[in-house]
Amino acid sequence: MTLGPSVGLMALATRTERRTEPQPSMTRIFWRSTVGKKTVMALSGLIMLGYLVAHVMGNLKIFFGPGEFNAYGHWLRTMGAPVLHHSWALWIVRVGLLAAVIGHAVSAYQLSRRDIKARPTAYVHKRPRASYATRTMRWGGIILALFIVWHILDLTTGTVHVGGFEEGRPYQNVVDTFSTWYGNVIYIVAMLAVGLHVRHGFWSAAQTLGAGNARRDRALKAMANGLALVLTAGFVSVPVAVMTGVVS
Ligand code: HEM
Repeated sequence: MTLGPSVGLMALATRTERRTEPQPSMTRIFWRSTVGKKTVMALSGLIMLGYLVAHVMGNLKIFFGPGEFNAYGHWLRTMGAPVLHHSWALWIVRVGLLAAVIGHAVSAYQLSRRDIKARPTAYVHKRPRASYATRTMRWGGIILALFIVWHILDLTTGTVHVGGFEEGRPYQNVVDTFSTWYGNVIYIVAMLAVGLHVRHGFWSAAQTLGAGNARRDRALKAMANGLALVLTAGFVSVPVAVMTGVVS
């Protein structure tokens, strides 16, 4: 039996279609892979860590009085001038940070979905639980995301602020926040979450980016612990200073 011309044409069309099917780009292949998502987590985490180091240094200026702290808040809006317009540099930082937060959160969510799906459940009665570190990172990440929303509404927009938010007077705003018991609780819990998250996150990022090896692991662990401790102590010192009347 001979095949009609239309059948031959169909076979040719299918073959041509297969050949011209769009290939996924390198970026897409990278993003879909587990190592790609881990790399995005590591790099976005390091960007946020850089911001936290700068932020804690800025916060410590509160110990030099309202003049210096408020001037620092003003500088955040005038940095880059006169080349950049008022607040432009701050907005560039904000957009970069937002991209880092989104990249970090989306890859964390997708990696944990993948991890849950891949866990063997056939021969066990109870589903094996994720490791202690993994659970701490997941819960810590959720607490920090909620904290950041609260923190911006409290000290940047003033929406949930107590005691009359005053734009351009961050010193008084910070003192107001830490004059309430719940302000102290929210911030101190979040700062402890920052410490735990940085401690494990820094270590994981170093492994993902290939910085870890048997010789360097001890130094990397010490760096992770040191960073976590300095950040937590620096951030917590501000509410403690307000509670004890050192800053008022
Ligand atoms: C005791 C601890 C902290 C204090 C006293 C504090 C204080 C402040 C203040 C006063 C501002 C407003 C600055 C201004 O607009 O002039 C601010 C903004 C901000 N803080 Fe904090 N902060 C603390 C901890 C944190 C932590 C742990 C994070 C991140 C996890 C964080 C993330 C941010 C962000 C994203 C902004 C918004 C920056 C902007 O776009 O204007 N802060 N903080």
